[in-house]
Parts: sequence; C-alpha cells; structure tokens
Amino acid sequence: MEVKWEDELSTGVGMIDNQHKNLITRIQKLSRAIQHNKVGMEVLNLIKFLEDYSRSHFTTEEKYMKKYNYPEIVFHVKQHRQFMKTLNELKKLYTGNARVDLETAKHMQYELWKYFKEHVSVVDAVLANFLKNAGAR
Ligand SMILES: [Fe+2]
Repeated sequence: MEVKWEDELSTGVGMIDNQHKNLITRIQKLSRAIQHNKVGMEVLNLIKFLEDYSRSHFTTEEKYMKKYNYPEIVFHVKQHRQFMKTLNELKKLYTGNARVDLETAKHMQYELWKYFKEHVSVVDAVLANFLKNAGAR
C-alpha cells in the first residue's frame, strides 16, 4: 500500500487536512531516504517532528471531535494515546544511539506505515466523513 493523500481523507477542516498532508510528505521523504540508502539524521529528525506533530495534530482532531460530539471519540483518542506510546518507545530506543542505520530507518518506516494504514486511512477517514457531514470547517 502506498502512503499518499486521497480525497477520502479530506475532513473539510483545512488545518487537519494540512497536518495529514505534512505527515504523508514526511513518510514519503523517509521512504526516499531508505531507497537511496541516505538515512543520515532522518530518523532522529523524524522523531522530533513526530513529537510536535502528534501533540498538535491530536489536539486539533480531539478539539473537533468534542465540538461536534463525535460518537467514536473514546476509541479514537485511545488510538492516539497508543501512537504516543509507540513514539515514546521509539524515542527511548533511538535517542542517544549514534548508529542510526538502515535497519533503524526501516523499523521507523514500518511503524509509520502501520499508523497510516490502521489509523489515518481508516479511523481518521471515518472521522473525516463525519466532520464533512457535520459541515465542520
Ligand atoms: Fe486521528
């Protein structure tokens, strides 16, 4: 499965859509770095990016879920917490580890691919549909 922007992901809320597009761009960048065997600082930069990203993105999504009384909020928020946990584990594993090699990058790629496939393209797509119908913006 390719990680790319699809119209079904659109929530109608510009801020959420842009955050999703940003994440997709970062995952694609990591894939390119792996393809060209130029991983360098990519993984550590990515962890830093994902920390800021998940904090602000999840806050945005959760704000909209509350505002529009989204019925699946508990399940959705649980998934966000789970991703934060995964991210924390990755951070512990790689911070202070000078050897960020191809295997590390592939591990990161796998986790992000999984998050995209299980969360963004399914759980967020359901939320997107709900927000669109609710006329959120
Ligand atoms: Fe989400």
